Amino acid sequence: MEQKRYGHFDDQHREYVITDPQTPWPWINYLGNEDFFSLISNTAGGYSFYKDAKFRRITRYRYNNVPMDNGGRYFYIKDGETVWNPGWKPCKTPLDFYECRHGMSYTRITGKKNGVEASVLFFVPLKKWCEVQKLTLKNESSETKSLKLFSFEEWCLWNAATDMENFQRNFSTGEVEIEGSTIYHKTEYRERRNHYAFYHVNAPIQGFDTDRETFVGLYNAFADPQAVMEGKPRNSHAHGWSPIASHYIEVTLKPGESKDFVFLLGYIENEQDEKFEAPQVINKKKAHALIAELDTTEKVDKAFAELCALWDNLLNIYKVKTGNDKLDRMVNIWNQYQCMVTFNFSRSASFFESGVGRGMGFRDSNQDLVGFVHQIPPRARQRIIDIASTQFPDGGCYHQYQPLTKRGNNDIGGGFNDDPCWLIFGTVAYIKETGDFSILDEMVPFDNQPGTEVTLFEHLKISMNHVIENLGPHLLPLIGRADWNDCLNLNCFSWDPNESFQTTENVSEGTKAESLMIAGLFVVTGKDYVALCHALASRACGDAIATYTTEAARMQKAVDAMIAAVKKDGWDGEWYLRAYDFYGRKIGSNENDEAKIFIESQGWCTMAEIGAEDGMVAKSLDSCKKYLECEHGMVLNNPAFSKYIYEYGEISSYPEGYKENAGIFCHNNPWVIIGETLAGRGNDAWAHYAKILPSYVEEKYQTLHKVEPYVNCQMVAGKDAFKPGEGKNSWLTGTAAWMWYTVSEFILGIKPDYDGIRIDPCLPETANDYTVNRKFREAEYEITIHPNGAQKGVKSITLDGKPVEGTVIPYSAGKHVVEVTM
Ligand code: GLC
Ligand code: GLC
Repeated sequence: MEQKRYGHFDDQHREYVITDPQTPWPWINYLGNEDFFSLISNTAGGYSFYKDAKFRRITRYRYNNVPMDNGGRYFYIKDGETVWNPGWKPCKTPLDFYECRHGMSYTRITGKKNGVEASVLFFVPLKKWCEVQKLTLKNESSETKSLKLFSFEEWCLWNAATDMENFQRNFSTGEVEIEGSTIYHKTEYRERRNHYAFYHVNAPIQGFDTDRETFVGLYNAFADPQAVMEGKPRNSHAHGWSPIASHYIEVTLKPGESKDFVFLLGYIENEQDEKFEAPQVINKKKAHALIAELDTTEKVDKAFAELCALWDNLLNIYKVKTGNDKLDRMVNIWNQYQCMVTFNFSRSASFFESGVGRGMGFRDSNQDLVGFVHQIPPRARQRIIDIASTQFPDGGCYHQYQPLTKRGNNDIGGGFNDDPCWLIFGTVAYIKETGDFSILDEMVPFDNQPGTEVTLFEHLKISMNHVIENLGPHLLPLIGRADWNDCLNLNCFSWDPNESFQTTENVSEGTKAESLMIAGLFVVTGKDYVALCHALASRACGDAIATYTTEAARMQKAVDAMIAAVKKDGWDGEWYLRAYDFYGRKIGSNENDEAKIFIESQGWCTMAEIGAEDGMVAKSLDSCKKYLECEHGMVLNNPAFSKYIYEYGEISSYPEGYKENAGIFCHNNPWVIIGETLAGRGNDAWAHYAKILPSYVEEKYQTLHKVEPYVNCQMVAGKDAFKPGEGKNSWLTGTAAWMWYTVSEFILGIKPDYDGIRIDPCLPETANDYTVNRKFREAEYEITIHPNGAQKGVKSITLDGKPVEGTVIPYSAGKHVVEVTM
């Protein structure tokens, strides 16, 4: 397959520049950092929402539509008989020039046609509930241009799920108000909603439309709306059906002249007793105030500069200079950016997640934290409390919660037995980054019930206990509905296609299904928990010291027992087993016909270093290379399942090479890579890492890979697939946090710890000297590493010229220079 290029990185501006609108799949970006969010594709498709993509959807989007990527914020420019859009879609009029620059929380789309340039900057200003669309029209021709400009947004009737199905109601509820250059969307505001949205432009308008059928025409499309084609707005007022917002502006531009228009898509909430200013008339005070904050180019430019400054600061916390652009741009820009996005959205809204199915995942959000704690620690802190508040008193938890209400989501329920451990993982990362042990004293409820509060530390303890109290016949953790692999449903036993694999447990009484993935996860997080108890003991006084040391000893015993159980019943000779099924039969063993080896248990048990002394770790890592690795990364299992196995559940439902059935599930590749680094195998670690590093893939495979080349996707089709190397499910994946954790801490070797920064790189032997600038609490370290051809092993460290004992640079505020010789 010919590998065409659709764009390139611009590192200086921290942008990805798309130069052909017909990308192999919409290449999107995210706008907004808190509360108000938008998804935007390279042709301006996408939608906006407030906090929750399901319950507060502001604009409408059509997933899985024909053509692809239908619905967005569209500007139509009618220049004589030619109608075009700066982002090419929806008219698809061939452009003389097209460029889309996706940057850090902003996107700039520029199109040119017949001597007119239209450039739109899209962003969500910090702490404001609106999307700014700054349109600049420029006449580059030698004649005066008279243009007709139409804007377009389509309102979603708030609940994105019912918006797609409850038409008997929806077609009667739509309501709008028009005031000057502002169109207000107030559907359901007369009853229980205390919020409305608006679409405004900072210029007088010569017409408008708010009713979709009138504007587009019932049998026309976004590509040829009647009002635009005829160059005549209808001034329609929507009553029911599908309300939209379209401004009409006549623009005259002399040669060389340019004009800015600021369009604002805003969201407002009012108190119950302040909803109306007159009967049926919504209270617009807050909307007016928001508009006034952004009604000139200068104000908008200032807000944009503030957003850019935020990203300057965020990306200054960890900065590496290796001389390898492909590595540096991922570490310094895109990987960190993706971590922010996954922290914000968990797995809720992307072009693969419809925003109605999933909220914030318990395990997902905890993992996302690890990529985010260094960026905005107070938000990480709040997230940990929110997550822990959905836990049950026995340590189990809701698998997901809704971002708007922060309540556990009963539709998916709980019983995923890996979930509790992740709370340790996220919390420990936060404390190591910040030194803020006080979070452990926070009083946190169970299932959000007031009156049930215990300390966060207690939540961690019962999380560990949940594993210990749910062991199976081999003293390995019972899997429950599934472990990290949502599709290993060993208690499901379903022949009914209408049953969800994740929430169906047709048998669970008497189950023997055990997970080696949870065993490894328990050992890793158990060691973390023990170290945390010791750190607490060393900071405590009086009786508390003994309490923490006793707790550390208790957990160490449980960890040791788990290690013993894995060695005894979790080893298959060349690799770790994956699980035991309901009947106690091996899964992921040489004895099986298919799926003899799985990646998850290799990753977690090597990270836990179980049996390293007996050669188990090295053998397991070698087996990953031999059986799982291929050109595009490591597959999840091998050989792929060729038929549905009713005892195993969803995993065997997928065709070979896709998703959890032997796809390259990028999320779990870093586990093995970390295992490699702990074993000191820098060459192997790097080889695995570079295979799934977007910048390396970008260079070779833009067409094949299909999805955005600047971020990781969840899954790349594996070696057994029809089209190996094809990516899917981009953006919202734990891969982001894991890639970050792997490269920042285990490859480049800069590891936050309770008392300082541990330096322990693991590199390919070809690595050159490199420098990491790391802000850490109140300190700033400039750390230069001299690998000298070594893959692992720090020989000596100096801190501000003085030798340091061991590998931890003790923390102290201020600026420091560190030299590391390997
Ligand atoms: C998805 C889920 C994640 C799960 C993984 C493997 O990415 O979001 O929770 O661990 O699939 O099934
Ligand atoms: C499916 C997917 C898995 C995802 C899960 C979420 O099982 O294969 O990746 O985590 O759905 O419900």
